[in-house]
Amino acid sequence: MLVPEEAASVRTASLNQSSEEVAEPASVKVSSPVCYASEASDAYMGYLDRDSLVTELNILLEAERAGARVAVRLVSDADRPELKALAQAIQRDEVRWCKMLIGALQTLEATPSKAVGGFYDQAMAIPDVVARFAFVNRGQAWVVRKLKTLLPKVRADRLHADLLGMLAAHDHNITRAETALLGLAQAGPRPGAQASSPES
Ligand SMILES: [Fe+2]
Repeated sequence: MLVPEEAASVRTASLNQSSEEVAEPASVKVSSPVCYASEASDAYMGYLDRDSLVTELNILLEAERAGARVAVRLVSDADRPELKALAQAIQRDEVRWCKMLIGALQTLEATPSKAVGGFYDQAMAIPDVVARFAFVNRGQAWVVRKLKTLLPKVRADRLHADLLGMLAAHDHNITRAETALLGLAQAGPRPGAQASSPES
C-alpha cells in the first residue's frame, strides 16, 4: 500500500508521462504491412489494363449495335404483337447499352468503334422471323457469357455496375424471349395464317 506521498508521486509521474506521450507520440509498430492494393497496377491485381478493356468494350459495342439493328428489322417484320413488343423492348435495351458503352469508352479517352458486328448479317440471313428471334436469343446469351467473363476483370466501380446492369437486362430479355417462343410453339400456327408466312 502506498503512503500519501508515494501515491502523489506516482500520479505526478503518470501525468508527466501522459503529457509527454501527447506531445511526442511514440512510433507504433504494426504486426502486418499496410495494404497497398488500391495503388497496385491493374494487371498486377488481375484486372484488365486500359487497352485491353477498350478492346473488350468495343467488341461489346459492335455486338450491341448489330443487335439493335436486327431488333429494328424484327419490329417491322414481326406480325405477331407479342414478338413485335419484345423486339421493341430488345431494341430499346440494345440502344441503351450502346450509349453506355460509348460513354465508358469516352471516359477511357478511347474512340468508340463505329462498326456493326457480323451478327447483323448472320441474323438477317435467316428469313423466318421466329427462327431469327431464336438466333437473336443465342446472341444475347453470347453477350451474357462475355459479360460474366469480363466483369471480374473490371476495376472501375461505375463501369462494373453498368456492365452488371447490362448482364441483368440481357438475362431478363432472354427469359422473356424463351417464354414467348415457347408460347408460339405450343400455340401452333395462327388461325388463318398461311403455311408460308409473309413474315419470312
Ligand atoms: Fe445485347
